[in-house]
Amino acid sequence: MILPPGEQTAAHDNHAPAAHYDRITEAWGLLLGEELHYGLFVSGDEELATATGELTTRMIDAARFSPGQQVLDVGCGTGAQACRLASEHSVEVLGITTSEVGVAAATERARAAGLSGARFEVRDGTDNLLPAGSFDRVWVLESSHLMPDRPGLLSDCARVLRPGGRLVLCDIIRRREIPFRELRDRRREFAVLRAAFGAARMDQLSDYESYAQAAGLTDIECVDITTATLPTFDRWQDNLDRHREQVLGILGAQSVTEFEESLQILRRFWQDGTLGYGMMSAARPDAVVPTP
Ligand SMILES: C[S@@+](CC[C@H](N)C(=O)[O-])C[C@H]1O[C@@H](n2cnc3c(N)ncnc32)[C@H](O)[C@@H]1O
Repeated sequence: MILPPGEQTAAHDNHAPAAHYDRITEAWGLLLGEELHYGLFVSGDEELATATGELTTRMIDAARFSPGQQVLDVGCGTGAQACRLASEHSVEVLGITTSEVGVAAATERARAAGLSGARFEVRDGTDNLLPAGSFDRVWVLESSHLMPDRPGLLSDCARVLRPGGRLVLCDIIRRREIPFRELRDRRREFAVLRAAFGAARMDQLSDYESYAQAAGLTDIECVDITTATLPTFDRWQDNLDRHREQVLGILGAQSVTEFEESLQILRRFWQDGTLGYGMMSAARPDAVVPTP
């Protein structure tokens, strides 16, 4: 899940996001639920599905949707949010992911719900090849940490936004500098996280702000929601306890051990201020009206 800053993901690597998500999508449904992201816990006692829904609701509030808008969902997982946005907010969503398994599951979800406003394609969020200025909103929910080219992601998101459009992004963040010595001393923990969650790199919220600024976005707002996401690890452990046999059958014993250990590692990282969770919203400025 975590690579030392600067380390790149090789395309042939089993931990590279496309291969990783093709492999784990079915098991993730049992462990993480319908929504493949952290929960935002208000009381701390909620069910995981309530808390993941609440995180999505916070993103919806920041996105400020209007009916009929075109939305790009970058890293759409199995389409849970795209389907919710299309059905509850009457927007048209294109969900993209590098995982073919994800696209198939998301397409089936939209079909089963009878939704024509949510469709899905295999595309890379850092080079989406979609027409410039073709979306009113870009939605990036917990996928950016899997994209090594973070400035490329933000510039491609800004490129496809119409003037006046908005970007909303949530993700796991690094909350402090990690000295090389500490990276070295904790390399086993990083290796377990990488095995369980795939190759990734965490940036600080201030890095995201810089990438957004460099991409020409304005009105940037960042919020750290680390504390409210902490109970997520207990819920994932509960799901593992509940579905252990099934998950073992899908992923095998080694992956289950790595997942379980990674929950303890992540909990420590959350509690010692190393990692956490953040949200950013930003806007593409309105077109400048030329003066006569
Ligand atoms: C943690 S899941 C989040 C899925 C979904 N947003 C959700 O919250 O349920 C990360 C998603 O990012 C996708 N992803 C990883 N790298 C990507 C890339 N370069 N371009 C597009 N999607 C990517 C994965 O395939 C997966 O669907």
